[in-house]
Amino acid sequence: MARVLVVGGTGLAGRAIVAEAVGRGHDVVVASRRVPDDDNPSYVPGAVYTTADLVTADGLEEAVDGMDVLIDASNGAGREAGHTFTIGSQNLLHTAARFGVGHAVLLSIVNVDRSGYSYYRAKAAQERTYHDSPIETRIVRTTQFHDFIASLFAAGARAGIIPAFSKVRFQTIAVSDVATILVDAAEGNGPSNSTRAVGGPRIQSSRALAEAWKQATGSRAVIAGIRQPGALGAAWRAGDNLAPDQAIDGLDFERWLSSTV
Ligand SMILES: NC(=O)c1ccc[n+]([C@@H]2O[C@H](COP(=O)([O-])OP(=O)(O)OC[C@H]3O[C@@H](n4cnc5c(N)ncnc54)[C@H](OP(=O)(O)O)[C@@H]3O)[C@@H](O)[C@H]2O)c1
Repeated sequence: MARVLVVGGTGLAGRAIVAEAVGRGHDVVVASRRVPDDDNPSYVPGAVYTTADLVTADGLEEAVDGMDVLIDASNGAGREAGHTFTIGSQNLLHTAARFGVGHAVLLSIVNVDRSGYSYYRAKAAQERTYHDSPIETRIVRTTQFHDFIASLFAAGARAGIIPAFSKVRFQTIAVSDVATILVDAAEGNGPSNSTRAVGGPRIQSSRALAEAWKQATGSRAVIAGIRQPGALGAAWRAGDNLAPDQAIDGLDFERWLSSTV
């Protein structure tokens, strides 16, 4: 049993990681800027919640104090992402080193260093901070979450169109499977100071995923081919969002839909 800090543990992936770590009997502390009430879906019984801000470093010392290992599942949007992933990661790792935390695990994205997309550039900078860290690190890069692709379909459907991104395939993965792999890494699974890529169980066209989502949700929106613009679209069309040799035997999109929708 270890004392595990999950930074960003109230988020989508973070909640699953917290549930997995608590389920394995670890002592889990969750750090984020806002602490959920115990009737909030983000709240995992058995975990202890504390407020900390990666960017200002407020509450970070209290959060890392006494921890054996940390898992970083933090996130940000727009300009905030840049600060969270660069200044925030530096604050976190240096504070962790000062307080004797032995090991840090980062949740990242496959081939994130190959794209000029601004969010990916910030994530790649975050990875470099982990590479240069004074403490032992493991970086786990995953493909897109089922939830992420479903949220793109849902957002489009609200405007009447479910986007089938042309010439794009995805290898989506369940956050529950991501959580299993992240907690394995926190327990020391795999080589230290390493980067590991993990992909979902199947590679499917964006249109096939859109059709599965439409059928599962009963949406009346129309599936339409859309060219994703910019550096993100280029990365997707180049297949840089895939990890074909690292597919796991996990929950696929259709089974995830039937358990979620
Ligand atoms: N979406 C995908 O398909 C995908 C695929 C592979 C990897 N990833 C990576 O997975 C990670 C988690 O993504 P997610 O979608 O689960 O994130 P999310 O749902 O947006 O959750 C973000 C978490 O970070 C916390 N946070 C944000 N800013 C913070 C700060 N300054 N200090 C402390 N905590 C902060 C948030 O809580 P507060 O706001 O209360 O602070 C929340 O707990 C990201 O790094 C993302 O790049 C995502």
